[in-house]
Amino acid sequence: MHLLSWISSMGLLFYFNAVACGDVDGRKIYENHCKKCHGEFGKPTERGRRLDAPDFTDKRWQWSRTDEQIIDAITNGKNKMPSWKGELTPEEIQAVARWVRVLGPKLRGKGTGARE
Ligand code: HEC
Repeated sequence: MHLLSWISSMGLLFYFNAVACGDVDGRKIYENHCKKCHGEFGKPTERGRRLDAPDFTDKRWQWSRTDEQIIDAITNGKNKMPSWKGELTPEEIQAVARWVRVLGPKLRGKGTGARE
């Protein structure tokens, strides 16, 4: 019983640390893990184009996807898009999904919560 409540409070502590302190920087995650295929500003690189990666700066692409679809693709992968489940926490995936929105033309800087 004691052990169980200790474990769950530690879990909560880590959770609040990550969320409340804004430790999770979507842009940094994007630069470390996504830029090589999706390009620094959302235009796919040579490698990304060969794999058929979308252009995040295209407003039609942004409009065609819900936040849930974006989070799902990052979490579970999609065709040649790798899955990040084992690599990133759910908070990190949410942060990097917000960054993908920031790269879109219409949504740039509009209350996305991404850090400047
Ligand atoms: C090895 C190259 C590669 C890397 C690295 C990569 N992606 Fe992708 N990504 C792709 C490809 C290819 C697609 C196109 C998948 C499809 O729709 O067929 C894609 C698609 C996507 C989509 C669109 C999914 C949809 O529903 O249309 C999102 C969002 C995305 N990637 C985000 C990310 C993020 C965030 C990262 C970093 C954590 C990342 N990608 C890293 C290759 C990559």
